[in-house]
Amino acid sequence: AAWPSFTRLGLGFELVCLKTVLCFSNGKVEQACDDMTPEHGHQSSPHPPPYSITVDKSKFSPLEQIKVTLSAVPSENKAHFKGFLIEARNASNPNAGPVGCFTLLDPEISQLLRCNDREGAAVSHTSEVSKTEVQVIWTAPQDPPSSVQFQVTVVQKYKLYWVRIQGPVVSLNDAPPLPPLPTAGQSVAKTTTAASILSDFTSDDCGIKKSCLREPAGCDPWKDALCYFLSFRTEDASVVFELSGPAPGYISFALSTDKWMGEDDVYLCIKEDDRVDISAAYVQGRTHPVIASENVLRDTAWRLADGVIQCRFRRNIRIPATYQNRSDLGEAHYLFMAHGRAEGGRTHRHDRQPLISTNPVLITGLPEDLTGSRSHLLIKFHAVFMLIAWMTTVSTGVIIARYFKPDWAETTLCGQRVWFQFHRALMLVTVLLTCIGFILPFVYRGGWSKRAGSHPYLGCTVMALALIQPIMALFRPAPDTSRRYVFNWLHLGTGMIAQVIAVVAICLGIHQQALLLPAPWSTGVLAGYVVWFVLADLVLEVHRRGLFSIGQYFHFNKKLFLYYIAISALGHCFKKIVLAVYLCGNLGFLIILLATIGAV
Ligand SMILES: *[C@@H]1O[C@H](CO)[C@@H](O)[C@H](O)[C@H]1NC(C)=O
Ligand SMILES: *[C@@H]1O[C@H](CO)[C@@H](O)[C@H](O)[C@H]1NC(C)=O
Repeated sequence: AAWPSFTRLGLGFELVCLKTVLCFSNGKVEQACDDMTPEHGHQSSPHPPPYSITVDKSKFSPLEQIKVTLSAVPSENKAHFKGFLIEARNASNPNAGPVGCFTLLDPEISQLLRCNDREGAAVSHTSEVSKTEVQVIWTAPQDPPSSVQFQVTVVQKYKLYWVRIQGPVVSLNDAPPLPPLPTAGQSVAKTTTAASILSDFTSDDCGIKKSCLREPAGCDPWKDALCYFLSFRTEDASVVFELSGPAPGYISFALSTDKWMGEDDVYLCIKEDDRVDISAAYVQGRTHPVIASENVLRDTAWRLADGVIQCRFRRNIRIPATYQNRSDLGEAHYLFMAHGRAEGGRTHRHDRQPLISTNPVLITGLPEDLTGSRSHLLIKFHAVFMLIAWMTTVSTGVIIARYFKPDWAETTLCGQRVWFQFHRALMLVTVLLTCIGFILPFVYRGGWSKRAGSHPYLGCTVMALALIQPIMALFRPAPDTSRRYVFNWLHLGTGMIAQVIAVVAICLGIHQQALLLPAPWSTGVLAGYVVWFVLADLVLEVHRRGLFSIGQYFHFNKKLFLYYIAISALGHCFKKIVLAVYLCGNLGFLIILLATIGAV
């Protein structure tokens, strides 16, 4: 029944098809280790699979071997298959990743896969050749779960496959009977009021009985659906964590020894259809978290409502060393909170920068109300330097050079004219601030950021222009030479272009993931600054031209001439007043933006 809708998708679909088949026809399907789903973009077939999975024994001991056979049911017509993926799972926690290791019996048609960094954790096909049977040997781990279920994904053709066919369950010798499947979470009632849904998660005891990390600061998940909330409290030898926040696919937190992503102990609550999977994982570098094969979480519970994901679980403070990658809760860690989209149980990159605790936190320490930020200090300083340079020092330097040359014509300061001393000092400060501000994001990223759009390109242009200006000024011809006007125009032109590009770069910069100032408010403040600058420029320009022409036009009229004289006497004073008022407004805009940066 689903066929017609697939064909309707037409050419685009065919192209995707072709690419995916080419990619995975060799069976290197490591990325399907966890969810065992071919990324073919179709649904697992709803019909009963025409395949059987059999084992040669039903009980096993640690390190014992079991022969597993996947075969097409002979009575079924054309039930041969092209691709397959065989894994063994902890039957009590089948989503915690593969357990044990496989060895091959049919190496021409099967190959070992590396999952969660364990070689041989799964077996897949080597080519698309049709087959009707494959056999593998599974070896139980040293410390096996009390029962293990074999699960198999079989691809008959590209659009027809069965995901995670539930194979036989084998149990550890003398193991207690299989516990009932964990009924994680109270079943989701798509409900009524936020209050009844969120009533369990409150910030009432934050800082008293439990520690909390929240954004916005001080929010309460009980009342505020937009509250990102992480709390933890120690109970005997374990810690209970609560995590809540609006997210399309998952919410998570990580324990990290530094403020960078990588080598971190991660806890994920991933929404899958109408339920939430709660698991521990590990991120190696700036990559996908790898779900841990051992589950260390207990008393899991979750809730889904109105786009908010909530989960609660318990973890022991001390974890046996055989459980790799679980950090010691007795040591201080930075807390990272992230959320984002997820598909079929796999998390995508977080939508926003993680919320990172300001200081390392001892999970087992006294309850604290924690603070955090989504922006790194390096990026905040980058913004602060650039804003001071390109909002304040540069614009003041420009106004002084443009309108205050005639003033202090006679007075000099350290052998140079006063306006020039001011102009040079302000511009050197601009270049200096730009240089420092320019380096910081590279230090933060450790290289070029591919996710920042055109902002870094504009920034590099501004940096280059800012460096050209003083060099050009150093080699300027003397004021009275004939080529001086060339320098004047170049200097003015380069400066203006740099200023315009810098404003555009700042506009883009304050909406980067790494420093997301509240929109549209921050853009408004920036626009206010631009208008204020243009206004001051305009007033001074009119003043300069206006008085001159009034003087010429009316100088024969005695009364007006006197009036003109009076105004010109006021002239110097007027300009200084305009400059002072401009500076006050400018600093106002600057301080508002700096305060906003401090608060994110
Ligand atoms: C298997 O899952 C159960 C339930 O989550 C857990 O108690 C048990 O420790 C797991 N066994 C192993 C070896 O991971
Ligand atoms: C953590 O797990 C990764 C694979 O997920 C593994 O490569 C690494 O060796 C582990 N590290 C430690 C310290 O156990």
